[in-house]
Amino acid sequence: MTDKFYLTTPLYYVNDVPHIGHAYTTIAADVLARYKRLRGYKVFFLTGTDEHGNKIARAAKERGLSPEELADSVVKRFQNLWGKLYISYDDFIRTTESRHTKVVEKVFLRLYEQKDIYKGFYEGWYCVPCESFWLESQLAEGSLCPECKRPVERVKEESYFFRLSKYQDQLLNYIEKNPDFVLPPTRRNEVVEFIKRGLRDISVTRLRLEWGIPCPVEKKHTIYVWIDALLNYISALGYSLDGEKFSLFWPADVQLVGKDILKFHAIIWPALLMALGIKPPRKVFAHGWWMVKGEKMSKSRGNVISPEELVERYGADPLRYFLLREVPFGEDGNFSPSLFIKRVNSDLANDLGNLLNRTLPLVERYCEGKVPCPAEERAEDAELREKVRQVVLRLDELMNGLAFSEALSLIWEIIRFANLYIDRSAPWRLAKEGKKERLSTVLYYLLETLRVVSLLVFPFIPRSAERIWAQLGLEDKLSEKRWDEVERWGILPSGIRVRRKAPLFPRIKE
Ligand code: MSP
Repeated sequence: MTDKFYLTTPLYYVNDVPHIGHAYTTIAADVLARYKRLRGYKVFFLTGTDEHGNKIARAAKERGLSPEELADSVVKRFQNLWGKLYISYDDFIRTTESRHTKVVEKVFLRLYEQKDIYKGFYEGWYCVPCESFWLESQLAEGSLCPECKRPVERVKEESYFFRLSKYQDQLLNYIEKNPDFVLPPTRRNEVVEFIKRGLRDISVTRLRLEWGIPCPVEKKHTIYVWIDALLNYISALGYSLDGEKFSLFWPADVQLVGKDILKFHAIIWPALLMALGIKPPRKVFAHGWWMVKGEKMSKSRGNVISPEELVERYGADPLRYFLLREVPFGEDGNFSPSLFIKRVNSDLANDLGNLLNRTLPLVERYCEGKVPCPAEERAEDAELREKVRQVVLRLDELMNGLAFSEALSLIWEIIRFANLYIDRSAPWRLAKEGKKERLSTVLYYLLETLRVVSLLVFPFIPRSAERIWAQLGLEDKLSEKRWDEVERWGILPSGIRVRRKAPLFPRIKE
């Protein structure tokens, strides 16, 4: 039986336009999905959009559209971008779809019937223009909305509550017993501290919410958007409707989120699941933020970098590579055009691009453009083969720990080593000295290294990996390859014709 791997991104709000912060989560998830497919897992990779809530209704009104019309157009924009970034999601869920709303209603009713949801009064500080409730501790200067800095009002109204407090001990226990549930560890500690300070029941309906799923117990209330949205991770599997898909894929193996939404995913979400008698996800990983000049990139700050423009100018792979290589996953990173260019030029153009662009012309020149037959292996060849083997052995641990940047730098050890191998074995000298067998062996080892490298980089830079693969003269589909072909050495067939093309990564001028 093949193992399954269920992986999710958060849902993106449709009142926003996609920026590289959004692309970051989705690219990281895509890399993991592709890696797990390569390792032979049956992968289910879910992403989608969060389409309810006053902010969305208001944004639609401002543009003279209905919320559905606004959502449709933004969803197209997201899907179009994901296409350009080669995101290989298996399902795209929208919270306005009936396959989702039906599940939300069922879950709400069930929790109400089992008394995990009850009716009470909500009292809090309300900002009318932002249509948001705030805690006293969140207010700016003691009495202002932390978002728009306008005065807030005290409001008391009926609401339904989820008995979050009841799950406090169970949650703490789960986190303690499953140290990989919330990662990175510093974030886990924050979550644990937060829970230990005491969880209060949370309001799960709103009276002032006009665009959302009506509360099935009492229609004048609307289900709070976060409760609605979180349930996408099980509604997409047909929870309570289609038992088969749900039992195949749940629990989620990795749920990727930004650090700003970790508490929803590491506290409220598992508590809801516990109330439903469902296992919590195996891992919730909170990544950091992309910043510009020290500030979080966001539409409201007006400092967003458009992934569309970068892809248009440089292609998707350089962006995918940069985002995952530049910053250890989990930490914040600063985006600047010069950092981007420097990284792409040094790692993609110089290291990887050069390895290919040095090797293929040698094969054309000295081997009639065909993959040669290797002769006896010497110590320096064995060293290269061993380098590849060592990297391959160490990669899985890094990928499972979502250490993408470290994984890339490990793979790049092979690429740098192979470039040194060319310098040291000097194929042009071997040719001059008529050492035909040595020359064939060296070139074969380089081509074979490039074959393994294309498989290893495929999850990160899929289009470029396919191009390298094709230039090596290989015709089968990279996406259908499995790990045994990474582990085996010497399977590149001799005699096939290499097909050199224009350089893959032209140097970018600053
Ligand atoms: N709709 C909610 C999530 C509901 S999930 C059940 C939401 N949407 S969002 O569009 O605001 O954010 C989506 C994701 O993008 C979040 O994980 C968030 O952390 C991430 N990012 C938004 N801005 C970001 C950066 N500047 N940098 C990195 N990630 C950022 O929250």
